[in-house]
Amino acid sequence: MDLSEEINRRRTFAIISHPDAGKTTLTEKLLLFGGAIHVAGAVKSNKIKKTATSDWMEIEKQRGISVATSVMGFEYKDYKINILDTPGHQDFAEDTFRTLTAVDSVIIVIDCAKGVEMQTRRLMQVCRMRKTPVMVFINKMDREGKDPFDLLDEVESELQIKVRPLSWPISMGMSFKGVYNIHQESLNLYTPNKQTVSETIAFGDLNDPELENFIGQKDAAKLRDDLELIEGVYAPFDKQAYLAGELAPVFFGSALNTFGVKELLDCFVEIAPSPRPVETLERTVDPHEDAFSGFVFKIHANMDPNHRSCIAFVKICSGKFERNVNYKHVRQGKMMKFSAPTCFMAQKKETVDEAYAGDIVGLPDTGNFKIGDSLTAGETIHFKGLPSFSPEMFKYIENADPMKQKQLQKGIDQLMDEGVAQLFVNQFNGRKIIGTVGQLQFEVIQYRLLHEYGAQCRWEPIHLYKACWIESDDPAELENFKKRKYQYMALDKEGRDVFLADSAYVLQMAQSDFEKIRFHFSSEF
Ligand code: G4P
Repeated sequence: MDLSEEINRRRTFAIISHPDAGKTTLTEKLLLFGGAIHVAGAVKSNKIKKTATSDWMEIEKQRGISVATSVMGFEYKDYKINILDTPGHQDFAEDTFRTLTAVDSVIIVIDCAKGVEMQTRRLMQVCRMRKTPVMVFINKMDREGKDPFDLLDEVESELQIKVRPLSWPISMGMSFKGVYNIHQESLNLYTPNKQTVSETIAFGDLNDPELENFIGQKDAAKLRDDLELIEGVYAPFDKQAYLAGELAPVFFGSALNTFGVKELLDCFVEIAPSPRPVETLERTVDPHEDAFSGFVFKIHANMDPNHRSCIAFVKICSGKFERNVNYKHVRQGKMMKFSAPTCFMAQKKETVDEAYAGDIVGLPDTGNFKIGDSLTAGETIHFKGLPSFSPEMFKYIENADPMKQKQLQKGIDQLMDEGVAQLFVNQFNGRKIIGTVGQLQFEVIQYRLLHEYGAQCRWEPIHLYKACWIESDDPAELENFKKRKYQYMALDKEGRDVFLADSAYVLQMAQSDFEKIRFHFSSEF
């Protein structure tokens, strides 16, 4: 197979959902179809149990599990599929945002009874920003849920994307009969069974009276009416609109019962994009270019706390990556080669000799990489698209052991490089502020500083509403703003100006008083 064929057959995606909608179950069923695992129950949920939100050992254990399931690769038909796992716990949402920068498409799982939930809404914002193609799987149809038309309306309005059903449920809950697969014109009948695939019958003409024999008179009449309505309301499926991130095809099913999953997967491999061109500061990189390039989107640190060992996860953006070949670490300006790169097949980590655009390789590392680093065959390019988002919780970090100042500094630096949280230095008093999206991250930082760096920190409260990045085309106005707000100005890790607003009102006033200043809630603008 030549380079282009290898790249074209790759499908790299993430499944996103609100916790409990069925992401783990669906992932597992996809792996079953790919022959990557053979029994249900083999994929461990990486959910941090709700009851143990501050349990350290639990988090450490979860970190161990989640490295194995960070990327799950498998072959299906002639496709190489890579599923990137995303942390279930909302306090790690920033991790999920970054993982979404490394995928070419997304499947959103929605619980039919709960509809669109908070976390799905937030993650979809990131997909919209990046115009990532999304497919929707409405799960748990074996349970009573909302009316399917209402669900479609909800997805459209809440996730702000047009939808087009490609399958349609026949009843639900106790009387669930199956789905009509609009995409393949077939009837998929439901038999509740957790391990096998249901019966599929080609059924092009719904007016065929045979339909009554399969699903009964009442449901047959309802299905015909529903489909008539669908054809009337929704335009035919437009693949280009899907690829542009403007239209989401929708499937219905029950992951737990392996129902509707194969249809989803078959349609997915057919229409989902192979690796897409990626923007760098310098130029657009096409995946089919011969020269290798990629970027680090995740660092999984300290697999062994006694040695600083991490795995840097690299998304290959172009060409072919080879083991023991010299590549350029652009930020450090040095050449490096990797003797033990790993790829992830199902739940196994294996050393690989080569990998292609679309794949993820894990590079064992001892602190050379940070999130967003570019790796190339020699060219100096910087990949874009790894924004930090304005954190939601803030605390001052203080040294609790004066003898360990150096260790603390090093620990903070490295944890921030890994993307655990964000650091802002207040320009007025020089104090360091850590910003996170959840309480749990503060506890993770404190624990890891102690266990990995021997440093002790103490948190002190700070009342902040938002940290936003500011810029202006008018340098004098920017200086004026910084002077007026000098107590509230900070620098982020890259030295960019950040305004610390202590209330929504203050932010609003600043926005209206300083029209020439742009306030950004993510670090990339
Ligand atoms: P998550 O990763 O999105 O958080 O969800 P997960 O797959 O862990 O599923 C959450 C719960 O929903 C699980 O039940 C799972 O069995 C159930 N579930 C998933 N798909 C379906 C479905 O199609 N129908 C029904 N009825 N239930 C489904 P649990 O009781 O929390 O866990 P478990 O003890 O069954 O593992």
